[in-house]
Amino acid sequence: AKPIPVITIDGPTASGKGTVAHRVADRLSFHYLDSGALYRLTALAALEQGIALDDEHALAELARGLPCRFQAQSVLLAGRDVSEAIRAEQVGNAASRIAVLPALRRALVGLQLSFRQAPGLVADGRDMGTVIFPDADLKVFLTASVEARAQRRYKQLIDKGISASMDDLLKDLKERDARDSNRAVAPLKPAEGAYLLDTSEMTADRAVEQVLGWYAEAGKLAQ
Ligand code: CDP
Ligand code: CDP
Repeated sequence: AKPIPVITIDGPTASGKGTVAHRVADRLSFHYLDSGALYRLTALAALEQGIALDDEHALAELARGLPCRFQAQSVLLAGRDVSEAIRAEQVGNAASRIAVLPALRRALVGLQLSFRQAPGLVADGRDMGTVIFPDADLKVFLTASVEARAQRRYKQLIDKGISASMDDLLKDLKERDARDSNRAVAPLKPAEGAYLLDTSEMTADRAVEQVLGWYAEAGKLAQ
């Protein structure tokens, strides 16, 4: 049988992966995997249970039995809605710290693969095209300048009524980029055959059209 189609969208923080992947999934009526949310859920559970962020064995165990459920607009952890809680800056930082641990990454593989269901999947993260779905039908690597990405995060915070400093955001973003790109396992980098899309000067909708266009082309080439 033909494998279930997958589109992977990887890239650095605030490149627009989540926004673009979600809209592409909607347009194609595909399922959507926010792989970063799995790292964030594990990080939140670890913080709450007092598990040290370098205790690889305990964290892998935690990730393997992660009692999470994804609903239309929300994420549940042991039945509790944690959609807001996992977005906290502290949780994002903890997520990027535990994401360097190979055993933890391995523990999350099965869960990620299980999202591949008919009629198709759009998956976003750092290693969707390189590690988790190397056979994807279309691989996209989204980028944007550090300044554009910091500006987007700034706007997101202000819109939520949270005050923010552009200097702090820039510093945090560069730190996160360095940690995600320089780690030994599954570092952030474009997958082989990935299409690069720089969205610094591009609206999210324009990026969505580009990805859909590439996907349509990939389908024609495969026939
Ligand atoms: O929204 P943002 O891009 O900042 O983060 P995210 O996609 O929610 O992911 C949170 C953290 O999880 C990232 O900083 C990565 O270190 C890690 N992550 C990863 O290692 N591999 C993935 N496939 C997804 C996220
Ligand atoms: O998932 P990731 O961290 O890569 O980024 P995101 O949370 O999807 O996008 C960050 C913000 O940038 C969102 O508020 C988007 O609406 C915005 N965005 C944009 O202004 N222009 C784009 N081309 C893509 C996203």
